[in-house]
Amino acid sequence: MQRRMSVSLFIIGFVTLLSLGIFISSSFLKTLNINEKLTQLVAKELPTYHFVLIGEEADNDYWRLVEKGAKEAENYFDVHVEYKGPKRSNIKEHLKLIDMAVASKVDGIITQALTEEEFVPAINRAIESGIPVVTIDTDAPSSDRVAYIGTDNYYSGLLAGKALIEDTEGEVSVGIITGNFNSEHQQLRVQGFKDMIKDIERIKVVAVEESNISRLEAEQKAYQLLRTYEEINAFYGTSALDGIGIVAAKNKVNVNDLYIIAFDTLDETIKLLEGNEIHAVVVQKPFEMGFKSVEVLMESFIYQPKSIVNHTETKIIRKADLPDLETEMHLIRE
Ligand code: BGC
Repeated sequence: MQRRMSVSLFIIGFVTLLSLGIFISSSFLKTLNINEKLTQLVAKELPTYHFVLIGEEADNDYWRLVEKGAKEAENYFDVHVEYKGPKRSNIKEHLKLIDMAVASKVDGIITQALTEEEFVPAINRAIESGIPVVTIDTDAPSSDRVAYIGTDNYYSGLLAGKALIEDTEGEVSVGIITGNFNSEHQQLRVQGFKDMIKDIERIKVVAVEESNISRLEAEQKAYQLLRTYEEINAFYGTSALDGIGIVAAKNKVNVNDLYIIAFDTLDETIKLLEGNEIHAVVVQKPFEMGFKSVEVLMESFIYQPKSIVNHTETKIIRKADLPDLETEMHLIRE
């Protein structure tokens, strides 16, 4: 009897110990699994590098494409890209964002450099604190930036001038709406245009106004120009929303024969090109600029970039080129 009892006790003890063992090891394995998952998640959420991309205006459709390209690069490199920009184009705020990125010790900064005078010191301050900077869209050649990725802005102006010469006949009086008088890239786009047409007697620039890169201001300025200079029969808009504003002004004044060259392949601009309201568009590659700037910054940790100035493609398209543009659109904005 006593023997039977001790055998039973032994079996009960053994089974209890066994279940306890299984329980402990399974919860240990579970914890291990959870930990592993957590590590994976944290690794996914916190890549090694943290870059800040600063554009001229946070919610501008053009800059959203730059952001999209930079974000796409997150899928290829161990980096998180934080996108920032002033609410409305504003140099002081833009510079503050650069200084804040430096203060928070990010690993790299990608920024547009609207003016040499104001942006060179800010860029160099970042470089001195050991943070590499890539300029995008508008360069600051005299700064110590690692590289520039963006349009050759002077050349894009030359292309616009050439398109106007090719597409028009007879006397042409041009009104120019430019993003901002002080911005280097806008100056270059105007200068290139003027240089291209300077020997063509039948073409004259009548007036240049600034839109502050606002669609509404572009419309107001174009409207005023159309009221003041009856001879204006062509417009050149040098920043992404200017062409759209010029068309809106034209529709208010009711002029029919107005030749318009716009900048950038935003959806609305393409629709206006399709509808014969805009006649030529200067193409830039904002998505590619975003992607490449991240790529070059990443490479700069390993070696000095091969070329400091990296121009992305710029060209003119007209309505007839739209089918070709469709096929390459994914390179521009996806
Ligand atoms: C320019 C950008 C500018 C944008 C404004 C683009 O054409 O390249 O620098 O911020 O227009 O809409």
